[in-house]
Amino acid sequence: MSKTNSQPTPPAIPEALAHVRGDFPILSRTVHGKPLVYLDNAASTQKPQAVIDAVTRYYSHENANIHRGVHLLSTEATGAYEEARGKIAKFINAADDSEIIYTRGATESVNLVAHSYLEPLLQPGDEILISAMEHHANIVPWQLLCARTGAILKVIPVTDDCDLDLATFDQLLTEKTKLLSIVYVSNAIGTVNDIQPLLDQAKARGIPTLVDAAQAIQHIPLDVQKLGCDFLVASGHKIYAPTGIGILYGRRALLDTMRPYQGGGDMIAHVTFEGSTFKEPPSRFEAGTPHIEGAIGLGAAIDYLSSVGLPAIHDYESQLIAYAVAKLSQIDGLKIIGNPRVRSGAISFTMGDAHPHDIGTVLDTEGVAIRSGHHCCEPLMKRLGVPATARASFSLYNTPADVDALAAALKKTALLFL
Ligand code: ALA
Repeated sequence: MSKTNSQPTPPAIPEALAHVRGDFPILSRTVHGKPLVYLDNAASTQKPQAVIDAVTRYYSHENANIHRGVHLLSTEATGAYEEARGKIAKFINAADDSEIIYTRGATESVNLVAHSYLEPLLQPGDEILISAMEHHANIVPWQLLCARTGAILKVIPVTDDCDLDLATFDQLLTEKTKLLSIVYVSNAIGTVNDIQPLLDQAKARGIPTLVDAAQAIQHIPLDVQKLGCDFLVASGHKIYAPTGIGILYGRRALLDTMRPYQGGGDMIAHVTFEGSTFKEPPSRFEAGTPHIEGAIGLGAAIDYLSSVGLPAIHDYESQLIAYAVAKLSQIDGLKIIGNPRVRSGAISFTMGDAHPHDIGTVLDTEGVAIRSGHHCCEPLMKRLGVPATARASFSLYNTPADVDALAAALKKTALLFL
């Protein structure tokens, strides 16, 4: 069936975002002789010059280990590392800097909560509640934990449109539920879940909560105190910062009760061969020399985002993604997977029988970078009846021209495969 031809109106790039493309040096490179159109932001974002400069400055000016030296370089490096923690705390409105723990990324943050918080509390038959649209990082650590403890993983279903199906939520939340761990924004489909009522309901029943904000923190202003969640996880590289750095937000009262994650230097108060005592949070959870330049880069990324303004970014990206949905909906043979009530960040699609990897390969020859595959969400793909999708994912530096380039490249792809 032929689709509508009326041209959707592209959003105007607001003043606050007018300069951003120039801030990301990689965006001016070419790919296969074509200008780069980078639409794989849900997998990893590009880095602004301010982040690259912050990391370079650290290595060229203040490189030293932290929390260990009395010399100036160590003092400066420690200051920069801790200052970044404060920026993150402020960015998500944590009550105290000590509620921010540096990890390798959202995945490690979930594993930390599984090991240090939940495992000692679980009895056989206890339940952990997640949803059917979780990333593997919010499934597999809980499965491993269930295997160790005899706990049971329960799953909130999703609708055909890929919204949470909350018809049975009341029954899924039981006196045996020991944690609700829920994704804010789906990496695979772009669904923005209305998590506040779920968090409120869990809180009212004394059930701790974890929010997977890996795909939310770069798009939607977050306030952990308003959300009332106990834990929140995110990755630096998806928020314009280096890879290998992420955060775990934990409510201090819970962090205080938690056992260490890894043992080693900097997390101990005292060590004897008979036993060791441990520092308070956050140090208790940061064993060994950490990813210092990653933390400093993350602080610079937060400064950058704050200078542009997350509300303006959110506004613009919402319009851009609506424009992209409208443009892609006009391509014959292209099927958008999922039709969530609110969308952020990503659009997943298929084209007839064309394998998503083939779509991705053809788009690459046109300079358009997308992701294809199951997006680390195999159970969700199964639920939606597709083995894999092609996914375009957006960020603050994408433009209507990027969407037009994607649509043009997809039309060429359709000629090859359909
Ligand atoms: N979780 C990342 C993605 O969605 C890697 O692509």
